[in-house]
Amino acid sequence: MCGIIGYVGKNDANSVLIDGLRKLEYRGYDSCGIATISNNQLQVMKTVNRIDSLVPCTQKLGTSNIGIGHTRWATHGGASEKNAHPHVDNSDRFVVVHNGIIENYLELRKELALQGYKFYSETDTEVIPNLIAMNYDGNLLEALKKTTNVLEGSYALGVIDTKEPEVLVATKKNSPLIVGLGENENFIASDFSAVLKYTDAVSILDNNDFVVLTKEDVKFYDRNLNLKQNAVKYIDTNDGDIEKNGYEHFMLKEINENTITVKKTLDSYLDGEEIKFNLNIKPKEFKNIKHIHIVACGTAMHAGLNAKYVIEKLTRIPVNVEVASEFRYKNPILDKDDLAIFISQSGETADTLACLELVKQEGIKHISFVNVKDSTMDNLSENVLYTKAGPEIAVASTKAYIAQIMLLDLFAIYLAKINKSYDEEKLNDMLKSAIEIPNAIQEVLENDEIYQNYAERISYTSDMFYLGRGLDYYVALEGSLKLKEISYIHSEAMPFGELKHGSIALIEEGTPAIAIATDKKMIDKTVSNIKEIKARGADVMAITTIKDFPEDVVDEIIYLPEVNEIFSPLVSTIPLQLIAYHVTVEKGLDVDKPRNLAKSVTVE
Ligand code: AGP
Repeated sequence: MCGIIGYVGKNDANSVLIDGLRKLEYRGYDSCGIATISNNQLQVMKTVNRIDSLVPCTQKLGTSNIGIGHTRWATHGGASEKNAHPHVDNSDRFVVVHNGIIENYLELRKELALQGYKFYSETDTEVIPNLIAMNYDGNLLEALKKTTNVLEGSYALGVIDTKEPEVLVATKKNSPLIVGLGENENFIASDFSAVLKYTDAVSILDNNDFVVLTKEDVKFYDRNLNLKQNAVKYIDTNDGDIEKNGYEHFMLKEINENTITVKKTLDSYLDGEEIKFNLNIKPKEFKNIKHIHIVACGTAMHAGLNAKYVIEKLTRIPVNVEVASEFRYKNPILDKDDLAIFISQSGETADTLACLELVKQEGIKHISFVNVKDSTMDNLSENVLYTKAGPEIAVASTKAYIAQIMLLDLFAIYLAKINKSYDEEKLNDMLKSAIEIPNAIQEVLENDEIYQNYAERISYTSDMFYLGRGLDYYVALEGSLKLKEISYIHSEAMPFGELKHGSIALIEEGTPAIAIATDKKMIDKTVSNIKEIKARGADVMAITTIKDFPEDVVDEIIYLPEVNEIFSPLVSTIPLQLIAYHVTVEKGLDVDKPRNLAKSVTVE
């Protein structure tokens, strides 16, 4: 989604902004731009190409100590230079970068047009600098406050005034914005990564608050423009975590970090046979839970489906998994004894956050499984369990998904222990066996060549199937999404037994199909299903942990190390991540920044 960086300070703003934009690149964008002020002259540069293409132009500009920059992920109006940010008002004085959506922009545009304002882009954002110009009465902060009074929707805004080139003003509502506090320099940004090179001291702006930054000073204001104190946090994220560290792509680096991710999760929460979660929910309340709602989007939602299976198996508590964009508008049936679970890597996904707000309003117990500490979800949730994946930069989520599965498995066991709903000895055996998972993942990673060869073989295809039963079906869903989002190959994931109810019609000679088969109890059914698609020409690769799998029914077979059944997705997902990665490399596509996608979807 869009990324914002703003700077005022001792260094050249042009290079700080470019540097910051590069760090925000991972969020996904289709145009970008910066605005700086040099000798009271506004300099605006925009491009629909990559950030690096701005560099030669910045070198021709005069040095500047203030500026704002933006990566745009098109919503209102296509990807073009005129729609790219920063946007200026009609007098070229006030300059704005915006993340979010102004829902009433058409109405505001009409009102401004009646007063003679002209619009040069199709964006919702362009009303904002013009409203600021209209509201300006000698004080930029007050003009911004008056402007936000009429804005409906979500926004993070950075504003500069060409006639006051030492002040940067910002505000936010339901869209992330942080303030970086340096020495003789201060920053605003959509996330920490953009400022970490310069400072580790950051403050998170609250909804409807304002901040005024100069080179030496940062002042925070509440919604009524009363001065307020804002806590400063020191981020310990190692800058190395947001570099490729020798890997060709972030995605490959992150897939290879699956091993350490699982290890960190186990080390953080498991002490022998005891799972240590710091939650404000009493054992008695856990015992009373009648229903669990899991709400998330995309890959995080797939982790939720996996968790449904495991929680229901171990606790017999019914779980429903909902896509956040549906849950928020369906008037969900919620009861005071229910538990809601939110899952999010970024902690900034707009739909999931809206569901969290809804559940909070209803007074329902909830736990958020979040990867990014200090994200909006982290700050809004009454109970948070952190996934231990570390920064995930590639748009396609890999290690964060594995961390979600691991942590949700531990949560299911934790709940089963409290509720005494499953044989204690078996639960302890599961926990003991969990320490084998990192080695099993590592073994898969070391066999990467197999997946690379397979990827080369099938990269020509335009259609593909991922099939499985039970937990293997959820693995199939995630494998299919991974392939679609980065290689642009259409694929379909199906419960194996469901295929013959329609979609089998799509199987023809040579259609690649991956059959995930880790459930011994279902092996006969799975083999029959494989025969059905083989008979129709499918090219089938089986990924299995079952030693005596009948090899002759498939075209290719890959044996994975065996782990406890509930942990099998932690291992069987890795080949699918590697296959998606290698197919994409084979096709020469941009692995880390796929078209049309954003890392965190901060708008509806
Ligand atoms: C992951 O590969 C996807 N790009 C996407 O589905 C993602 O999982 C989804 O947008 C949810 O994001 P979140 O975990 O940050 O909430």
